[in-house]
Amino acid sequence: MKKLISSLAVCISLSATALTPAYLDDSLPIEDRVEDALSRMTLREKINIIHAQSKFSAPGVPRLGIPEIWCTDGPMGVRPEVLWDEWDQAKWTNDSCTAFPSLTALAATWNPDMAELYGKSIGAEARFRNKSVILGPGINIYRTPLNGRNFEYMGEDPYLISQMVVPYVHGVQSNGVAACVKHFALNNNEVNRHTSNPIVDDRTLYEIYLPGFRAAAQEGEAWSFMGGYNLFRGEHASYNPILMNQILKGEWDWDGAVISDWGAVHDTKTAVSGGLDMEFGSWTNGLTNGQSNAYDNYFLADPYYNGIVDGTYSTDELDDKVRRVLRLTFRTAMDRNRPFGAMGSDEHVAACREVGEEGVVLLQNRGDILPIDLSKVNKIAVIGENAIKMMTVGGGSSSLKARYEVTPLDGLRNRVGDKAEIIYARGYVGDPTGEYNGVVTGQNLDDPRSPEELRDEAIKIARDADVVLFFGGLNKSNHQDCEDTDRESMALPYGQDELIEALAAANPNLCVINISGTGVAMPWTDKVPAIMQAWYLGNETGNALASLLTGDVNPSGKLPYTYYASLDQVGAHKLGEYPGHPGVDELGNEVFDMPYNEGIFVGYRFTDKNKLKPTFPFGHGLSYTTFDYGKASINKTEGTADDTFTVTVPVTNSGNREGKEIVQLYISDLKSSVDRPVKELKGFKKVSLAPGETTDVTFEIKRDALSFFDADRHEWICEPGSFEALVGSSSADIRSKVRFNIKNSK
Ligand code: BGC
Repeated sequence: MKKLISSLAVCISLSATALTPAYLDDSLPIEDRVEDALSRMTLREKINIIHAQSKFSAPGVPRLGIPEIWCTDGPMGVRPEVLWDEWDQAKWTNDSCTAFPSLTALAATWNPDMAELYGKSIGAEARFRNKSVILGPGINIYRTPLNGRNFEYMGEDPYLISQMVVPYVHGVQSNGVAACVKHFALNNNEVNRHTSNPIVDDRTLYEIYLPGFRAAAQEGEAWSFMGGYNLFRGEHASYNPILMNQILKGEWDWDGAVISDWGAVHDTKTAVSGGLDMEFGSWTNGLTNGQSNAYDNYFLADPYYNGIVDGTYSTDELDDKVRRVLRLTFRTAMDRNRPFGAMGSDEHVAACREVGEEGVVLLQNRGDILPIDLSKVNKIAVIGENAIKMMTVGGGSSSLKARYEVTPLDGLRNRVGDKAEIIYARGYVGDPTGEYNGVVTGQNLDDPRSPEELRDEAIKIARDADVVLFFGGLNKSNHQDCEDTDRESMALPYGQDELIEALAAANPNLCVINISGTGVAMPWTDKVPAIMQAWYLGNETGNALASLLTGDVNPSGKLPYTYYASLDQVGAHKLGEYPGHPGVDELGNEVFDMPYNEGIFVGYRFTDKNKLKPTFPFGHGLSYTTFDYGKASINKTEGTADDTFTVTVPVTNSGNREGKEIVQLYISDLKSSVDRPVKELKGFKKVSLAPGETTDVTFEIKRDALSFFDADRHEWICEPGSFEALVGSSSADIRSKVRFNIKNSK
């Protein structure tokens, strides 16, 4: 009897194995599973999985048990749930997230380990909420300080972005959640974002606007990409044959899924052929208006199905799209081994704080006003709306429902306790609202007083204090760092410049803490001794800032973009035609042509070339200690382009407290057949040094760091000749350089 039972068991298990379809057998390679699933799907099922069934989900294949794909914004926290078919809040009570610092803050850490920690943490939150795709990171180039979404991106330099995006993607995907790298490509402004038609040459495209995306695709192996709203050479980016088919899936050999931006698809034929794999958000503008339950009418729904049935389209493109969506599903929702994730954990709060503390940039500190010495200061005047305003709500699709948010004033009060008196005055009223898309901060920031009354009060308390901390900047309301609108000028809004000047006159011990995700004009830098660039820092904003201001943490962030004095220093404004001019594209559509006349000369490449002095240069950032650089040396002064050159520089902490320095390597091609930037960032290392400690910082220079993109030959070229390796503390503070020669290269 015993024997009979045991052979029965073997039989059942054998037949269970035989019955397990290959696509469910996770011991098989993903490609085999994809082919097996594809072979079982009907035409209707294939069409269904390539477009949305709700605002943020696609249906999977219910008959085969292939799960839905759920997406969520991105890129600084997991978005609260909206209704199935509306943008309105679903009013869940379990969807408050950890709000992480803006991606500009992350880039300003210049620390790939921070990017990995960030990605891992946000990915774990997305996983916990059962999302397969997080719609981020954003990595569009900072071409103009006016772009309303700069705070969602990583600055102006393709090398810095590439170094930061890869670990972010790895971190997210270690949770079995796909990163969706956006917005591919050239989505560098919000004004006219659906009709903007960047006119960009190939060299500029490959040298400036693509490297971050290429790194994300090839080194990061991102599982999905989001196309932009804008046009490029006659077609919308989300299904642009050059961007998607030729470059992303062709040259880069990428096997992931292209997701449209929400409402970025306008046509079936080109969406079919242009390399788009999943259509989302059609009949909306991406943020608000939408047509109810229109999913069957999506361009990749019934119109595509009918076109296949009547022979207009073959099934080749469809099968390619389905394979990519299945791959995405197997890598995420169908990965039985993926971790379970976590939400709002202590680790995530710590990550939020650490990234914030490493990302804040000390721009100026004359007379060592900072850190505030609590043993000497009795009265601290805190002024400005941004000291009390919660900023995790606002800014467009990246708006969050944070579990909590510590404002700068609360953070300071927590830290200072009874060691000094803190007196607060608002100084100005900017944006008293605290609502975005149905999420409210719960703050009531209405203030009936006149601008004069507010100002007078602020000046009065400033006069009376030992030190004055002004918290101002932008605030994620329309035109102040917000999706769908660009800023209207570089100036600080709400009369802040006048107020800052008045405060400087009232008290020489003034520190301006500018909270924004982009550069603002600072006409008062000569009058204000201390300036700190803080970003939107999420949950821990106030605690992170208090640590930095009081010196618990030594600032170590550096600018990921050039801090221009005025728009005249920005290539896009000086030479280009921002915000574009009305034109008609190849297909007869009305567009806003936007020539990128500055070409590769973006950011410091433009200010260097034109010998302009920005307010603060790219890569700049101070510390409460000082760093001395020794003489750079190189392992050899001549070699071929296939050799590796090694540059070493000793760096010493010459101050009296521990600190971190970001040592930067720029390469200069001294003679070239093409116009090249004066120098380009090609390496950086963040090192932590105790007082008096010296370390050797080493960089490897390979062909990539020396090459330019030859558009005619469509390849990267390293020309023979002399190069210089420049090592410095910012793009404008080169401490040592060494020359080397490349012979006989291709
Ligand atoms: C934005 C995307 C976002 C999507 C979904 C669009 O308006 O451009 O970045 O992921 O909406 O909310």
